[in-house]
Amino acid sequence: MSLLELDGVKVHFPVKKGIFFDRTVGHVYAVDGVSLKVEAGQTYGLVGESGCGKTTLGRAVLRLVDVTDGEVVFDGTDLAKLPDEEMRRFRRRLQMVFQDPLGSLNPRQNVESILAEGMAAHGIGKDQAERREKIKEILAKVGLPANALSRYPHEFSGGQRQRIGIARALVLEPDVIICDEPVSALDVSVQAQVINLLEELQESLGLTYLVIAHDLAVVRHISDVIGVMYLGGLVEEAPSDVLYEGPKHPYTKALMSAVPVPDPEIEDRRERILLQGDLPSPANPPAGCRFHTRCPWAQDKCAVERPALTDLGDGHKVACHYAREIDEGTVVQTRSTGIDAVVATEAVASKEAAVSETVTDPASAAVAVPAPRPAADGAVPAADADASGEAPAEAAASGSGDDAGDTGAEGPEGSEAGGTAEVAVTEEAVAEKPAIEEPAAEKPAADEPVAKGQAKEASESA
Ligand SMILES: Nc1ncnc2c1ncn2[C@@H]1O[C@H](COP(=O)(O)OP(=O)(O)OP(=O)(O)O)[C@@H](O)[C@H]1O
Ligand code: SF4
Ligand SMILES: [Mg+2]
Repeated sequence: MSLLELDGVKVHFPVKKGIFFDRTVGHVYAVDGVSLKVEAGQTYGLVGESGCGKTTLGRAVLRLVDVTDGEVVFDGTDLAKLPDEEMRRFRRRLQMVFQDPLGSLNPRQNVESILAEGMAAHGIGKDQAERREKIKEILAKVGLPANALSRYPHEFSGGQRQRIGIARALVLEPDVIICDEPVSALDVSVQAQVINLLEELQESLGLTYLVIAHDLAVVRHISDVIGVMYLGGLVEEAPSDVLYEGPKHPYTKALMSAVPVPDPEIEDRRERILLQGDLPSPANPPAGCRFHTRCPWAQDKCAVERPALTDLGDGHKVACHYAREIDEGTVVQTRSTGIDAVVATEAVASKEAAVSETVTDPASAAVAVPAPRPAADGAVPAADADASGEAPAEAAASGSGDDAGDTGAEGPEGSEAGGTAEVAVTEEAVAEKPAIEEPAAEKPAADEPVAKGQAKEASESA
């Protein structure tokens, strides 16, 4: 049995209306029937465009949101139906690292206090002295100096703050860490350091990861298995290399074809599948295959019958009625892809692996958000919906330094999901070991915004 098994997990948020009486007038189908397995000691990468339900799925595993239906079986126990009291026993073993390192750390607590809080709550360490020793040990593991103990989050750089976030998870000796966009708020060079750190920790501590990301390059490097989500459901899942060598679902093909290639010659010839239309609202998802409103190969059946995730061999699972036919070229295209041959896209994808990659300018290397290339028919590249309205994490964070002390108070739900700095990290950057530690943050910031909801969640998940 896998360490973590999700079976038919659904998270539906009620949509309420009315001034005096709250009436439920509909639901947001944020996660709608996801099944996946995460093996002990492995990494499962979850990708998909903004709003497809990745964060909600991660939060559902930790029971930070109620699971509407389905099972979340961790180490043989279904957490979805566990009474709150019993769930507490499992909280320590499942931890989360958030996207916005600053927003998830209480600015009024020093590092020791932030890390000791969870330990005390879970009875780790018999007294403060013992906890301090353990914290020092973990700080060394994540590459922070022992004098970090008495410092405050604003005194650190973004990458260092993310190390504190990782340390906060590690002091509780978890089995599973859910990393929700762990590097997307960081500079490209710092992303590589944090990804390397996560890999080293996994190896030395035997950790199991569920890594959520927009960035296909980040997920590719770190993941054993990758799942692609679209509008609340998994559309494709395969071992990392298999998926990158030959994506089979039209949505994954489009996502892959949007990945820029850091070789100008190949990049010039790279052909992208252009999808029409935006991501439909999860409050009103299309019937049948959820992708049929944008799929270049959609047939009549697609509008009425939802395809199940089916193993096509070697653990390559696809939710598409016509995956084989599309590969063989025996099904007619019903919408323009904007290119002649999809095969060319795959050829480029495999060449991409052979290319010596370099750290690219984040502005031009946004994997999930390619610079839109105007199409004659006004079609939009697959991942462009990602770019819409997205703001850097800090900008999206709510509150200000003034109310920072309120981090324990109610904050907006899921505020950590609000913004994403869309930057990509290339394989070479990831493979490189950090030569120097990133500099400490310039100035503290009474004016730095704080995601209250996220800090609250961080303490909840502890
Ligand atoms: N508490 C909530 N109440 C109502 N709707 C919610 C709630 N949390 C999330 N949603 C909705 O559920 C959908 C999925 O959101 P989620 O944050 O899981 O997406 P995501 O894939 O993580 O996106 P991003 O990449 O932008 O972080 C969105 O439409 C979002 O608005
Ligand atoms: S089931 Fe139909 S609409 Fe859905 S991805 Fe396959 S071909 Fe496209
Ligand atoms: Mg999210």
